[in-house]
Amino acid sequence: MKLAVFNLREDERDIFEFYAKKYQIELSVTVEAPTINNLSITKGCQAVSIITTPIDETLLDAWKQQGILTISTRTVGYDHIDLFHAKELEISISNVSYTPHTVAEYTVMSILMTIRKMKTILSRYQVQDYSLLNIRGRELQHMTIGVVGTGKIGEMVIRNLSGFGCKILAFDPYEKEQVKAYAEYTTIDQIWKNCDLITFHTPAREDTYHMVNKESIEKMKDGVMIINMARGSIIDTDALITALEQGKVSAAALDVIEDEGKIYYKDYKYSVTGNHDMAILSTMPNVLMTPHTAFFTDEAVDDMIHYSIESCINEVNGKENPRRIL
Ligand code: COI
Repeated sequence: MKLAVFNLREDERDIFEFYAKKYQIELSVTVEAPTINNLSITKGCQAVSIITTPIDETLLDAWKQQGILTISTRTVGYDHIDLFHAKELEISISNVSYTPHTVAEYTVMSILMTIRKMKTILSRYQVQDYSLLNIRGRELQHMTIGVVGTGKIGEMVIRNLSGFGCKILAFDPYEKEQVKAYAEYTTIDQIWKNCDLITFHTPAREDTYHMVNKESIEKMKDGVMIINMARGSIIDTDALITALEQGKVSAAALDVIEDEGKIYYKDYKYSVTGNHDMAILSTMPNVLMTPHTAFFTDEAVDDMIHYSIESCINEVNGKENPRRIL
């Protein structure tokens, strides 16, 4: 089998080579994102491994013509792929799973950094300002935390948080028995009404699009804190900025943001991103922003590559593929 690998990062190279050797497959790799202008990469391949670049109709048509049978996104989320058209073309699509500990631990870290005002503490320390003004924090034991989405990551966040003695309310249309040992399932309106801090672990779907918006924020407690390690589209960024400016939302931690796609994982040190919302949020002392790095551990990157390759091999050889989406 020949596999085309797009968006290859330097830290992935050795791992791809390791698994290619292990499974005896040929690779065609590029650091570029897939576009209609780099079809030479997919020539002679049966499978493609991608990350979060949009895969649209035009690209799918071109790959189908080249003989691509399957696409694996080495990410959990797959909202960047035109699934409808892939189905029409009978190109199978799969995603990967990786250890939920990675995003769950990053979430807990971001929660603690948020409630302890760590962004301000660290930036002050750098300029030798050791005063205590405006950095007094809160303790989780006296807080009610809302976890929206109790899939693998949300469940792990709940398990991790349970050690801190906070009250945990959870919302998910599919309730899990094992979660009930640590959290109380409730309605989304009760989450808005009762939680001091709300963390989101839902996929990007039509029903989760802008679930944090002007109306839902109005229902939240004054001074609520918002944590988003899932997908930018869950939050209406303009509404969040207004609520932060008005003090209704007292702090936020955002590993993801709307329209991050063209910006994150690139170096913009000497250039202009053009993303006004990011520019505003990143100047706020109470908003911790990171460039979609919650997933980024040794273990997760290994899982992503391993399972992406395994998935493509299964598909191309007509074997059952537990990671298939369609
Ligand atoms: C995912 O796996 O869905 C992620 O969010 C990480 C990815 C952007 C590399």
